[in-house]
Amino acid sequence: MENKWKRYTVTAALPYANGGIHLGHLAGAYLPADTYARYRRLKGDDVLYICGSDEHGVPITLGARKEGITPQQFVDKYHSLMKNSFAEFGISFDIYSRTSNKIHHETAQQFFLDLYNKGVFTEETSQQLYDEQEKMFLADRYIMGTCPVCGNEKAYGDQCEKCGSSLSPKDLKNPVSVLSGNVPVMKETKHWYLPLQNYEPWLREWILDNHKDDWKTNVYGQCKSWLDGGLQPRAMTRDLDWGVKVPLPGSEHKVLYVWFDAPIGYISATKELKPNDWEKYWKDKDTRLLHFIGKDNIVFHCIIFPTILHSHGEYIVPDNVPANEFLNLEGEKLSTSRNWAVWLHDYLKDFPGMQDTLRYVLTSIAPETKDSDFTWKDFQDRHNNELVAILGNFVNRTMVLTHKFYNGKIPVYGNLTESDRELIASIKVAQQNICDSLEKFRFREALQELMNLARAGNKYLTDNEPWKIVKSNEERCATVMYLSIEITAYLAQLMQPFLPVAAEKTLSMLNLPKKNWSAELKGQLIHPGHQLNEAGLMFRKIEDEEITAQVEKLKANQKQVVLQTEPKNPESEIANSVINYDDFAKLELRVGTVTAAEKVKKADKLLQLTIDMGNEVRTIVSGIAEHYTPEQMIGKQVSVVANLAPRKIKGIESKGMILMAEDADGKLKIVSPAETVNSGSKIS
Ligand code: 2FM
Ligand code: ZN
Repeated sequence: MENKWKRYTVTAALPYANGGIHLGHLAGAYLPADTYARYRRLKGDDVLYICGSDEHGVPITLGARKEGITPQQFVDKYHSLMKNSFAEFGISFDIYSRTSNKIHHETAQQFFLDLYNKGVFTEETSQQLYDEQEKMFLADRYIMGTCPVCGNEKAYGDQCEKCGSSLSPKDLKNPVSVLSGNVPVMKETKHWYLPLQNYEPWLREWILDNHKDDWKTNVYGQCKSWLDGGLQPRAMTRDLDWGVKVPLPGSEHKVLYVWFDAPIGYISATKELKPNDWEKYWKDKDTRLLHFIGKDNIVFHCIIFPTILHSHGEYIVPDNVPANEFLNLEGEKLSTSRNWAVWLHDYLKDFPGMQDTLRYVLTSIAPETKDSDFTWKDFQDRHNNELVAILGNFVNRTMVLTHKFYNGKIPVYGNLTESDRELIASIKVAQQNICDSLEKFRFREALQELMNLARAGNKYLTDNEPWKIVKSNEERCATVMYLSIEITAYLAQLMQPFLPVAAEKTLSMLNLPKKNWSAELKGQLIHPGHQLNEAGLMFRKIEDEEITAQVEKLKANQKQVVLQTEPKNPESEIANSVINYDDFAKLELRVGTVTAAEKVKKADKLLQLTIDMGNEVRTIVSGIAEHYTPEQMIGKQVSVVANLAPRKIKGIESKGMILMAEDADGKLKIVSPAETVNSGSKIS
């Protein structure tokens, strides 16, 4: 098939620099994009794979606040963590940049000015939510409340993560400041808006008419419902101090909306990588722009950023946005706040050198059309029963037998039988199918095709039993071994986008160079007389204990979440009787630091808290949900009755109780030390 594209700009969502990279991130964007970029490179195409850290926005400033460090210190820390994990895992970015770079600030400001000068924005002064205690406007995630669409009580000011609706702070019912827990007031401020509604006809034609058949149904469907719901102007600026400054006079305390600046980060990173040559990757109609993202980013990459690019006039828009659904973990939604996640940096420590196994499993279960589930048991099964038993086994048998029978020198083959010819034809079919599936972003299917070729190889060896005829029918044995090596050579080439480490090992054992898939991956890859290198093991087995340890670790880390008791009725709690010192001394009171918090399902008053007690982490269920949001609790120091007998509350074991003071109006306030102390400090 003739390729109409001259080059490819492949982007993967810039992750917020506020934590590590977990398996959900990998499965959603970085792995499929990496597989795709590797495939294009193998075809000899001009491709750039662009990514970097998203270092602005409320997730960053809130994170820095929780950790008690500056936003810059915060992003420096997480940028390095993420960059290193990606590098060690072998994600083949051409550049991994960051949005706090000067070049990005300049690029984003210039882009804003270009649109401003073209008269794209509308300027609006309006009433916005303001936290009087914190003296700041509450943009995006600084505000939480009830989603007007689905009723989720934990919706953010910019988006409801439950139903995916994009929101603006004023849409929320019962809005509460994430910073102070106060109900905000209205205050006047000026902002610049992108009038998305004016671009609706263009968006409809571009997406609904032109991409009906090639965009994934999940992506197309979300775009359609956005467009059918009617587009609204969207503010491209915010009243904040951390971010890219608005380049207009009188805007000292205003920055660009993070979803304006972050996607421009793809462009800045390209500029950084190719200072003299970046434009063709963004402005030439023969460049194919592809955004790999998770489903929560669809509106930004299919509606808002394309409108920004289109309204500028000089830029191309994405040809496809192959967004994935979500990856669950052991049957539950991944949650960074509950630490229900497998972190890439932990995986790399626990399974050194086993990058390909994770790539294999995540591609096999990729959430391409619907959410999928990662379990450690399935991880082990797929590795042992597929990678080891099918692919590794075939390569190993072939290599070992060739060394044993022919000292590793490829034998001269004899006449081919009908079934030999069918096998050769099936190699070609597998190759074609892999390419076709990759072209359509069907990575699971492509990987299956690869494994089917290994299965066919195993069957061929088993059916023909060369070990039985090595003496009695030398010619037939040589033919069988030759064809098995030929399949191995194709497997080694074809596994490169999926299993780069194993591919390299196999090519090295075969003593073969990488081939260009467009020009060289045809005909015989290996010829009689060619000398193989030593055979080595491709994959080791994963033992049950390793899997048990991972499951335990996951649960233990999650347990680092809560423990606390239901609110007591104050009247019944106040004991008027006098106690002696010994009675008091029985009480073990300690200061703990809340590291995670969440609402308890079906219990309006309860929060489940994870409390760092210095040398242990406890779960406490506390009846403070009507007085504090989970976000407000994180980072707070609390007084804990540490030796209270554990009790089960709503099925959660609560170990201890946190002390509260009750105000005259019935409001509960946590009792904290006046100054920060070490977690676990004794109260006496
Ligand atoms: O959802 C997120 O993690 C965002 N940081 C993704 C940004 S993608 C792009 F626009 F930069
Ligand atoms: Zn919702």
